[in-house]
Amino acid sequence: MPTAFITGATAGLGAAFARRLASDGFDLVLLARDAERLERTAAELREKYAVRAEVLPADLSSEEGLAAAEERVGKDVGLLINNAGFGNRGVFLDVPVSDELTMLKVHCEAVLRLTHAALPGMLERGRGSVVNVSSMAAFATRGTYGASKAWVVSFSQGIAADLRQRSRGGVRVMVLCPGFVHTEFHERARMDMSKLPGFMWLDKDDVVDTALRDLRRGVPVSIPGAQYKALYSAARLVPRGLVARFSSTTGRSYD
Ligand SMILES: NC(=O)c1ccc[n+]([C@@H]2O[C@H](COP(=O)([O-])OP(=O)(O)OC[C@H]3O[C@@H](n4cnc5c(N)ncnc54)[C@H](OP(=O)(O)O)[C@@H]3O)[C@@H](O)[C@H]2O)c1
Repeated sequence: MPTAFITGATAGLGAAFARRLASDGFDLVLLARDAERLERTAAELREKYAVRAEVLPADLSSEEGLAAAEERVGKDVGLLINNAGFGNRGVFLDVPVSDELTMLKVHCEAVLRLTHAALPGMLERGRGSVVNVSSMAAFATRGTYGASKAWVVSFSQGIAADLRQRSRGGVRVMVLCPGFVHTEFHERARMDMSKLPGFMWLDKDDVVDTALRDLRRGVPVSIPGAQYKALYSAARLVPRGLVARFSSTTGRSYD
């Protein structure tokens, strides 16, 4: 079984990917900042699924963390899940510019550098996959968060097209665009999600199931959930101004 490298592996979607891939027999490299939680997560997976689970405590917004992640991902990784991410509290002008720049580092620079470090080995071996976790916010107009996630979609689609020619389908890049998922994301960003209708919430294990099924099928843009597939189609027909007005009514911050 190949080794899977997962960023943001201690909570939410990343932890769900880690559990699912361990249960499928993948060895794992798990990355997040909180070293203790990371070790706890890895120990549980080793014990339950008898796989190798290495930990890499690193902050993807720091040069040191990025360099350590690049070095490890360039070795024997057959599946890279670029998942780590976060939301900032408030709208653009309420957020310190340093926090917006940190978001670009984690959502864009880390995704670019880890993809760049992982692909040469995969191409040499003739197989491998990269899953870049974006968001449905990529198709709405949601400040720096939506813009960074739109970059992830565009970047992934471009690389996927290059790879189709170079590797004849053996090496793939897929972008995953979930809608709202129950994780720690909204609480960490102090967003009040109480007005969001229940049917808009996705379950993290369902998102992971859809993502891995779409990856096997060679789907380039994975959109979990029928409600979000419908929204995705609509967003491509509806003027962007209207999409922006709808999106600004969800996920307001606590004050
Ligand atoms: N939840 C949603 O509704 C939703 C919807 C669409 C897309 N997404 C995307 O899904 C991805 C996962 O989010 P989630 O909802 O699972 O969030 P989450 O439950 O808050 O988990 C985030 C994970 O990322 C790690 N992380 C955060 N900043 C990091 C950094 N600077 N360096 C390294 N690791 C970092 C966290 O661990 P540490 O704090 O220990 O570093 C944690 O393991 C994100 O890219 C998010 O944008 C989420």
